[in-house]
Amino acid sequence: MSDRHEFSRFLLTGASGELGSALALHHACAGASLMLWGRNQDRLEATASKVRNKGADATVFSHDLTDIEGAVEAVLEQDRVNTFDIAYLVAGIGDTRAPGELVEGPSTVMRTVQTNFTAPAAMAAALAGRMAERGRGSIVLIGSAAGHHSLPIAAGYSGSKAGLARFADALRIAVEPSGVSVTLAAPGFLDTAASRASASRRPMELNVEEAARRIANAAEKGRRYYVTPWPFAMLRILDSLLPRVLRDRLLRSLDP
Ligand SMILES: NC(=O)c1ccc[n+]([C@@H]2O[C@H](COP(=O)([O-])OP(=O)(O)OC[C@H]3O[C@@H](n4cnc5c(N)ncnc54)[C@H](OP(=O)(O)O)[C@@H]3O)[C@@H](O)[C@H]2O)c1
Repeated sequence: MSDRHEFSRFLLTGASGELGSALALHHACAGASLMLWGRNQDRLEATASKVRNKGADATVFSHDLTDIEGAVEAVLEQDRVNTFDIAYLVAGIGDTRAPGELVEGPSTVMRTVQTNFTAPAAMAAALAGRMAERGRGSIVLIGSAAGHHSLPIAAGYSGSKAGLARFADALRIAVEPSGVSVTLAAPGFLDTAASRASASRRPMELNVEEAARRIANAAEKGRRYYVTPWPFAMLRILDSLLPRVLRDRLLRSLDP
């Protein structure tokens, strides 16, 4: 018997974005039904139409995740009807400090933390409760390799992704005995418009289709923490081993 999870009812946030859309298309096939969240109606419809062309059902839902209470209410209502097998909480924003700034400004930090940490964590907690009652389900949170490092050029971003990783691990420990798996996927650089706009050097960049394939594979195997590509896992270890003075100097030397 296979030890891989099999899914047919999907929730994806960030489905109007590049990674979310690639994940939706990766899973789209006859018999699958996908609830696609985003804000931009045109891009959401574009993803939905490609998903339907592959024989799956798609429904779109437009919601701004900075309305966190609204997001939790909506996801619980949708889960009541759809009983999701798996939720990919993909939506997020990447920010770096503007040239000449010491750190990202307070409103940027607030928006980044709400979108990248508070909203997905609250939605994951709500869904995990439902999945635990059913004795099955999977939750995939999209972190970032940036969450492994205290990046002074992106304190809000790296902090939000580090917080999400810690939350995911705690949630996993709480709900695994009830049959629910929680995966934190931490990609390095992806070849997306958002990434091209925010970083001039993007070593070991992955295209989104390949990243989606790897992340979906990690979710199907119920992996706890999945870093891709693998050298970013080595950098995470190096960060924890370097003497603080040297590490701080290296991190200070990074430019967007
Ligand atoms: N790109 C990279 O190099 C990279 C690397 C590591 C991790 N990641 C993570 O991967 C995830 C997907 O990023 P991506 O590269 O696919 O970026 P993207 O193409 O810009 O997509 C971002 C998605 O998040 C949604 N979103 C942003 N703010 C939102 C809000 N307030 N309410 C609702 N939805 C919101 C966007 O919706 P609308 O467009 O409809 O507004 C879009 O669907 C993010 O969590 C990101 O941090 C990306």
